[in-house]
Amino acid sequence: MISQRKSRSSNGRSRLLKSADSHALRSTRHPGEIPAAQRIFAAHEGYDLAAPGFDQWKWSAFWKHNEAPIVERWIASLHAGPGMDAGCGTGVYTKSLRSAGLLCTEVDISGPMLRILRRKHVGPGAPPDVAQADLRMLPFADAAFDWILCTRALSNIGRPGAVFSEFARVLRPGGRALITDVHPEHPYTCTSIPSEIGCISIQTYKHGISTIVHEMESTGAFAIRDLHEYRASELPWLPAGTPFRKLQSSEDTPVFYSVELDRNRA
Ligand SMILES: C[S@@+](CC[C@H](N)C(=O)[O-])C[C@H]1O[C@@H](n2cnc3c(N)ncnc32)[C@H](O)[C@@H]1O
Repeated sequence: MISQRKSRSSNGRSRLLKSADSHALRSTRHPGEIPAAQRIFAAHEGYDLAAPGFDQWKWSAFWKHNEAPIVERWIASLHAGPGMDAGCGTGVYTKSLRSAGLLCTEVDISGPMLRILRRKHVGPGAPPDVAQADLRMLPFADAAFDWILCTRALSNIGRPGAVFSEFARVLRPGGRALITDVHPEHPYTCTSIPSEIGCISIQTYKHGISTIVHEMESTGAFAIRDLHEYRASELPWLPAGTPFRKLQSSEDTPVFYSVELDRNRA
Protein backbone atom coordinates (compact mmCIF):
# COMPACT_ATOMS: atom_id res chain seq x y z
CA MET A 1 0.00 0.00 0.00
CA ILE A 2 1.07 3.57 -0.53
CA SER A 3 0.61 5.52 2.68
CA GLN A 4 0.05 9.26 2.66
CA ARG A 5 0.74 11.94 5.23
CA LYS A 6 0.77 15.70 5.30
CA SER A 7 4.08 17.40 5.76
CA ARG A 8 5.57 20.85 5.47
CA SER A 9 8.51 21.66 3.25
CA SER A 10 11.53 23.60 4.47
CA ASN A 11 10.13 26.74 2.86
CA GLY A 12 6.85 26.37 4.71
CA ARG A 13 4.64 25.08 1.88
CA SER A 14 2.44 22.19 2.96
CA ARG A 15 2.71 19.08 0.91
CA LEU A 16 1.45 15.56 0.66
CA LEU A 17 4.06 12.91 1.25
CA LYS A 18 3.44 9.49 -0.23
CA SER A 19 5.76 7.02 1.34
CA ALA A 20 5.79 4.53 -1.51
CA ASP A 21 6.90 1.70 0.75
CA SER A 22 8.68 -0.15 -2.02
CA HIS A 23 5.45 -1.80 -3.12
CA ALA A 24 7.11 -2.42 -6.48
CA LEU A 25 10.21 -3.94 -4.89
CA ARG A 26 8.19 -6.24 -2.68
CA SER A 27 5.95 -7.35 -5.51
CA THR A 28 8.93 -8.23 -7.77
CA ARG A 29 10.18 -10.58 -5.05
CA HIS A 30 6.88 -12.40 -4.63
CA PRO A 31 7.09 -16.09 -5.66
CA GLY A 32 5.53 -16.66 -9.05
CA GLU A 33 5.53 -12.93 -9.84
CA ILE A 34 6.51 -11.91 -13.38
CA PRO A 35 10.24 -10.92 -13.29
CA ALA A 36 10.87 -7.18 -13.34
CA ALA A 37 12.50 -7.41 -16.78
CA GLN A 38 9.25 -8.69 -18.30
CA ARG A 39 6.84 -6.24 -16.69
CA ILE A 40 5.76 -2.76 -17.65
CA PHE A 41 5.66 -0.68 -14.49
CA ALA A 42 3.55 2.34 -13.72
CA ALA A 43 5.78 5.42 -13.36
CA HIS A 44 5.72 5.53 -9.56
CA GLU A 45 6.89 1.90 -9.35
CA GLY A 46 9.24 1.90 -12.33
CA TYR A 47 11.27 4.95 -11.31
CA ASP A 48 11.55 3.61 -7.75
CA LEU A 49 13.27 0.54 -9.21
CA ALA A 50 15.25 2.33 -11.92
CA ALA A 51 16.49 5.20 -9.72
CA PRO A 52 19.98 3.78 -8.90
CA GLY A 53 20.83 3.40 -12.61
CA PHE A 54 19.07 6.50 -13.96
CA ASP A 55 22.10 8.82 -14.14
CA GLN A 56 24.23 6.15 -15.87
CA TRP A 57 21.56 5.39 -18.53
CA LYS A 58 22.81 6.18 -22.07
CA TRP A 59 19.89 8.57 -22.57
CA SER A 60 21.00 10.67 -19.60
CA ALA A 61 24.12 11.55 -21.62
CA PHE A 62 21.94 12.28 -24.65
CA TRP A 63 19.79 14.79 -22.73
CA LYS A 64 22.83 16.35 -21.10
CA HIS A 65 24.22 17.25 -24.52
CA ASN A 66 21.05 17.98 -26.47
CA GLU A 67 18.41 19.20 -24.03
CA ALA A 68 20.50 20.84 -21.29
CA PRO A 69 21.66 23.79 -23.46
CA ILE A 70 18.01 24.68 -24.17
CA VAL A 71 17.06 24.41 -20.49
CA GLU A 72 20.15 26.39 -19.37
CA ARG A 73 19.29 29.24 -21.77
CA TRP A 74 15.75 29.34 -20.38
CA ILE A 75 17.02 29.28 -16.78
CA ALA A 76 19.32 32.21 -17.56
CA SER A 77 16.32 34.21 -18.79
CA LEU A 78 14.34 33.81 -15.53
CA HIS A 79 14.07 36.45 -12.83
CA ALA A 80 14.68 35.42 -9.23
CA GLY A 81 11.62 33.97 -7.58
CA PRO A 82 10.29 30.65 -6.37
CA GLY A 83 9.73 27.89 -8.88
CA MET A 84 9.25 24.17 -9.25
CA ASP A 85 11.15 21.47 -11.12
CA ALA A 86 8.16 19.23 -11.86
CA GLY A 87 9.12 15.56 -12.24
CA CYS A 88 12.68 16.52 -11.25
CA GLY A 89 13.95 12.93 -11.00
CA THR A 90 17.52 12.79 -9.70
CA GLY A 91 17.87 16.57 -10.14
CA VAL A 92 19.86 16.96 -13.34
CA TYR A 93 18.97 20.67 -13.36
CA THR A 94 19.21 21.31 -9.58
CA LYS A 95 22.78 22.65 -9.75
CA SER A 96 22.01 25.05 -12.62
CA LEU A 97 18.88 26.35 -10.91
CA ARG A 98 20.72 26.93 -7.65
CA SER A 99 23.71 28.54 -9.40
CA ALA A 100 21.28 30.96 -11.06
CA GLY A 101 20.12 31.97 -7.56
CA LEU A 102 16.61 30.56 -8.07
CA LEU A 103 14.55 29.11 -5.22
CA CYS A 104 13.36 25.72 -6.40
CA THR A 105 10.97 23.11 -5.03
CA GLU A 106 11.92 19.73 -6.48
CA VAL A 107 8.81 17.62 -7.05
CA ASP A 108 8.64 13.97 -8.06
CA ILE A 109 6.40 10.97 -7.50
CA SER A 110 9.36 8.66 -6.80
CA GLY A 111 10.93 8.70 -3.34
CA PRO A 112 14.11 6.88 -4.49
CA MET A 113 14.67 9.43 -7.31
CA LEU A 114 14.34 12.26 -4.76
CA ARG A 115 16.68 10.51 -2.33
CA ILE A 116 19.39 10.41 -5.03
CA LEU A 117 18.77 14.10 -5.76
CA ARG A 118 19.29 14.90 -2.07
CA ARG A 119 22.46 12.78 -1.86
CA LYS A 120 23.91 14.49 -4.96
CA HIS A 121 23.37 17.96 -3.53
CA VAL A 122 24.85 17.84 -0.05
CA GLY A 123 27.33 20.61 0.72
CA PRO A 124 27.31 24.32 1.40
CA GLY A 125 23.96 26.06 1.34
CA ALA A 126 20.50 24.85 2.23
CA PRO A 127 19.60 21.29 1.27
CA PRO A 128 17.28 21.01 -1.75
CA ASP A 129 13.61 21.58 -0.96
CA VAL A 130 11.94 18.37 -2.14
CA ALA A 131 8.31 17.23 -2.23
CA GLN A 132 7.09 13.77 -3.16
CA ALA A 133 3.84 14.37 -5.02
CA ASP A 134 1.85 13.61 -8.17
CA LEU A 135 1.91 16.41 -10.77
CA ARG A 136 -1.83 15.83 -11.32
CA MET A 137 -2.61 16.79 -7.71
CA LEU A 138 -0.06 19.27 -6.46
CA PRO A 139 0.00 20.09 -2.74
CA PHE A 140 0.78 23.79 -3.24
CA ALA A 141 -1.23 26.98 -2.92
CA ASP A 142 -2.62 28.80 -5.97
CA ALA A 143 -0.04 31.09 -7.64
CA ALA A 144 2.75 29.68 -5.41
CA PHE A 145 5.38 29.73 -8.17
CA ASP A 146 6.92 32.17 -10.64
CA TRP A 147 8.19 29.47 -12.98
CA ILE A 148 7.88 25.74 -13.68
CA LEU A 149 10.41 23.49 -15.40
CA CYS A 150 9.16 20.07 -16.50
CA THR A 151 11.58 17.88 -18.44
CA ARG A 152 10.37 14.55 -19.81
CA ALA A 153 7.76 13.72 -17.18
CA LEU A 154 4.61 14.13 -19.31
CA SER A 155 5.31 11.03 -21.41
CA ASN A 156 5.00 8.97 -18.21
CA ILE A 157 1.64 10.50 -17.31
CA GLY A 158 -1.66 9.35 -18.78
CA ARG A 159 -3.70 12.53 -18.40
CA PRO A 160 -1.57 15.53 -19.41
CA GLY A 161 -4.62 17.80 -19.11
CA ALA A 162 -4.67 17.23 -15.35
CA VAL A 163 -1.01 18.31 -15.17
CA PHE A 164 -1.65 21.51 -17.17
CA SER A 165 -4.63 22.39 -14.94
CA GLU A 166 -2.37 22.09 -11.92
CA PHE A 167 0.43 24.07 -13.59
CA ALA A 168 -2.12 26.80 -14.43
CA ARG A 169 -3.29 26.87 -10.81
CA VAL A 170 0.11 26.98 -9.06
CA LEU A 171 1.82 29.35 -11.54
CA ARG A 172 1.25 33.03 -10.81
CA PRO A 173 -0.17 35.28 -13.56
CA GLY A 174 2.80 36.42 -15.66
CA GLY A 175 4.77 33.31 -14.66
CA ARG A 176 6.65 31.11 -17.13
CA ALA A 177 7.03 27.41 -17.86
CA LEU A 178 9.33 25.26 -19.98
CA ILE A 179 8.21 21.78 -20.89
CA THR A 180 10.24 19.25 -22.85
CA ASP A 181 9.57 15.66 -23.77
CA VAL A 182 10.42 12.83 -26.10
CA HIS A 183 8.62 13.44 -29.40
CA PRO A 184 5.70 11.08 -30.09
CA GLU A 185 7.15 10.33 -33.55
CA HIS A 186 10.41 9.09 -32.09
CA PRO A 187 10.33 5.31 -32.76
CA TYR A 188 10.40 3.91 -29.23
CA THR A 189 7.72 1.95 -27.48
CA CYS A 190 8.40 2.63 -23.83
CA THR A 191 10.95 4.01 -21.39
CA SER A 192 13.40 1.21 -20.62
CA ILE A 193 16.13 1.79 -18.03
CA PRO A 194 18.85 -0.78 -17.18
CA SER A 195 19.05 -1.79 -13.53
CA GLU A 196 20.66 -4.47 -11.37
CA ILE A 197 17.49 -6.57 -11.61
CA GLY A 198 17.17 -6.25 -15.39
CA CYS A 199 15.79 -3.62 -17.72
CA ILE A 200 12.94 -1.71 -16.08
CA SER A 201 10.22 -0.85 -18.61
CA ILE A 202 7.99 2.05 -17.61
CA GLN A 203 4.56 2.84 -18.95
CA THR A 204 4.93 5.53 -21.61
CA TYR A 205 2.30 7.67 -23.33
CA LYS A 206 2.98 9.11 -26.77
CA HIS A 207 0.89 12.27 -26.55
CA GLY A 208 0.62 13.92 -29.98
CA ILE A 209 1.90 17.48 -30.23
CA SER A 210 -1.60 18.67 -31.19
CA THR A 211 -3.00 16.95 -28.07
CA ILE A 212 -0.39 18.63 -25.87
CA VAL A 213 -1.14 22.04 -27.43
CA HIS A 214 -4.90 21.45 -27.13
CA GLU A 215 -4.60 20.46 -23.45
CA MET A 216 -2.45 23.51 -22.69
CA GLU A 217 -4.85 25.84 -24.49
CA SER A 218 -7.93 24.25 -22.88
CA THR A 219 -6.83 25.59 -19.50
CA GLY A 220 -7.32 29.11 -20.92
CA ALA A 221 -4.29 30.07 -18.83
CA PHE A 222 -1.35 29.84 -21.21
CA ALA A 223 0.07 31.52 -24.28
CA ILE A 224 2.64 29.50 -26.22
CA ARG A 225 5.75 31.64 -26.63
CA ASP A 226 7.74 29.00 -28.53
CA LEU A 227 7.31 25.39 -29.64
CA HIS A 228 10.24 23.58 -31.23
CA GLU A 229 10.50 20.03 -32.54
CA TYR A 230 14.12 18.83 -32.66
CA ARG A 231 15.18 16.40 -35.42
CA ALA A 232 18.23 14.14 -35.20
CA SER A 233 19.86 16.10 -38.06
CA GLU A 234 19.90 19.34 -36.02
CA LEU A 235 21.14 17.96 -32.70
CA PRO A 236 24.50 19.20 -31.42
CA TRP A 237 25.50 15.72 -30.14
CA LEU A 238 24.96 12.39 -31.83
CA PRO A 239 28.08 10.24 -31.52
CA ALA A 240 28.71 7.74 -34.27
CA GLY A 241 28.76 4.04 -33.45
CA THR A 242 26.65 4.32 -30.30
CA PRO A 243 23.48 2.43 -29.54
CA PHE A 244 21.34 5.39 -30.69
CA ARG A 245 20.72 3.54 -33.94
CA LYS A 246 17.05 4.50 -34.24
CA LEU A 247 18.07 8.15 -34.32
CA GLN A 248 20.80 7.69 -36.91
CA SER A 249 18.50 5.77 -39.26
CA SER A 250 15.82 8.46 -39.31
CA GLU A 251 17.55 11.82 -39.24
CA ASP A 252 14.40 13.76 -40.20
CA THR A 253 12.21 12.28 -37.49
CA PRO A 254 11.70 14.57 -34.51
CA VAL A 255 13.36 13.23 -31.35
CA PHE A 256 12.10 15.63 -28.73
CA TYR A 257 10.22 18.89 -28.37
CA SER A 258 10.24 21.92 -26.10
CA VAL A 259 7.37 24.30 -25.35
CA GLU A 260 7.81 27.63 -23.63
CA LEU A 261 4.67 28.98 -21.98
CA ASP A 262 3.59 32.30 -20.50
CA ARG A 263 0.89 32.25 -17.81
CA ASN A 264 -1.79 34.75 -18.84
CA ARG A 265 -2.18 37.71 -16.51
CA ALA A 266 -5.97 37.94 -16.61
C1 LIG B 1 12.38 10.63 -17.58
S1 LIG B 1 12.40 11.10 -15.88
C2 LIG B 1 12.96 12.79 -16.04
C3 LIG B 1 13.56 13.30 -14.76
C4 LIG B 1 14.14 14.70 -14.84
N1 LIG B 1 13.14 15.68 -15.15
C5 LIG B 1 15.27 14.76 -15.83
O1 LIG B 1 15.26 15.65 -16.69
O2 LIG B 1 16.21 13.95 -15.73
C6 LIG B 1 10.66 11.30 -15.51
C7 LIG B 1 10.41 11.66 -14.05
O3 LIG B 1 9.01 11.99 -13.90
C8 LIG B 1 8.57 11.45 -12.67
N2 LIG B 1 7.11 11.25 -12.75
C9 LIG B 1 6.44 10.42 -13.56
N3 LIG B 1 5.11 10.52 -13.34
C10 LIG B 1 4.94 11.46 -12.38
C11 LIG B 1 3.81 12.02 -11.74
N4 LIG B 1 2.56 11.66 -12.05
N5 LIG B 1 4.01 12.98 -10.80
C12 LIG B 1 5.28 13.37 -10.47
N6 LIG B 1 6.40 12.88 -11.05
C13 LIG B 1 6.23 11.93 -12.00
C14 LIG B 1 9.32 10.14 -12.54
O4 LIG B 1 9.34 9.64 -11.23
C15 LIG B 1 10.70 10.53 -13.08
O5 LIG B 1 11.55 10.97 -12.06
